[in-house]
Amino acid sequence: MIEGTILLVGCGKMGGALLKGWFAQGLSPVDIMIVEPAGRAAVETAEDHPALSVLTDASELPSDFTPDAIVFAVKPQAAADVIPTYARFAEGGTVYLSIIAGMSLQKLQEILGSEAAVVRAMPNTPAAIGRGISVLCPAESVGPSQKRVCKVLLAAAGQTAWITDESDMDAVTAVSGSGPAYVFLLAEALTEAGISAGLAPDLAEQLAQATVSGAGALLEAETLSASTLRENVTSPGGTTEAALKVLMAEDGLPPLLQRAVDVATKRSKDLAG
Ligand SMILES: NC(=O)c1ccc[n+]([C@@H]2O[C@H](COP(=O)([O-])OP(=O)(O)OC[C@H]3O[C@@H](n4cnc5c(N)ncnc54)[C@H](OP(=O)(O)O)[C@@H]3O)[C@@H](O)[C@H]2O)c1
Repeated sequence: MIEGTILLVGCGKMGGALLKGWFAQGLSPVDIMIVEPAGRAAVETAEDHPALSVLTDASELPSDFTPDAIVFAVKPQAAADVIPTYARFAEGGTVYLSIIAGMSLQKLQEILGSEAAVVRAMPNTPAAIGRGISVLCPAESVGPSQKRVCKVLLAAAGQTAWITDESDMDAVTAVSGSGPAYVFLLAEALTEAGISAGLAPDLAEQLAQATVSGAGALLEAETLSASTLRENVTSPGGTTEAALKVLMAEDGLPPLLQRAVDVATKRSKDLAG
């Protein structure tokens, strides 16, 4: 249950996905303000919720408005210009929740003040249908109730997990932040392989997509681990075992994925500077 007043700064793809989740959780439009110059998600949402305040600039915020939480969902390139405008709320107990990729807690506190209560988080794209996972990392100055607010705000878009060592955020970015793209690639590659094996393209695509999404849903529904589920569908001498011998060879999928995650982790570090 989301409680308190929220200011959402940036209502594009990810901000819009969060907003949708908050309304689904019962947040009242009067408890939220949005600052967004032109985003489609904000405009569309405002049509469904006439009581929602969508401002095009922070200067339009009422002078007596002090939000319980400010969520930064602007692009990293815009962050340095946008964030300083909201530093005045730091002393009023407001918690800042930033989903801006690559922007460290230290950088955020350099802008907002060294004692500002800041939580950095990394969501992923399935948040758009409430099936994402967000990893949160708090600054030391964040209190228990402020942590709870941030967790509830992101839980509206799916699962949440906390880390305390911020340096893990690069690997988190490489695994769950970029991860949906790896799974989409798996569906693409399986489609292509089916076409090469003689299937009509439409059927190959349907089979690949249903298999990826069905296997994901089964993994979520079962209490068994991924490796047990894999073993359970692998009969000795059968077709799955033949394919897995290729995928699990020394130069197969695990070392390939390891290399992909390693370069993404390094890229995340480099981008953060
Ligand atoms: N999308 C993802 O899967 C994902 C995953 C993890 C983290 N993130 C992070 O989430 C953040 C947002 O990403 P996104 O994909 O949602 O980007 P996006 O769709 O471009 O949304 C950013 C929004 O911020 C608006 N904006 C620009 N200047 C602003 C200002 N001064 N005040 C308020 N809003 C302003 C933009 O409006 P205009 O379009 O009019 O400029 C845009 O609607 C990024 O920092 C990204 O690193 C995204």
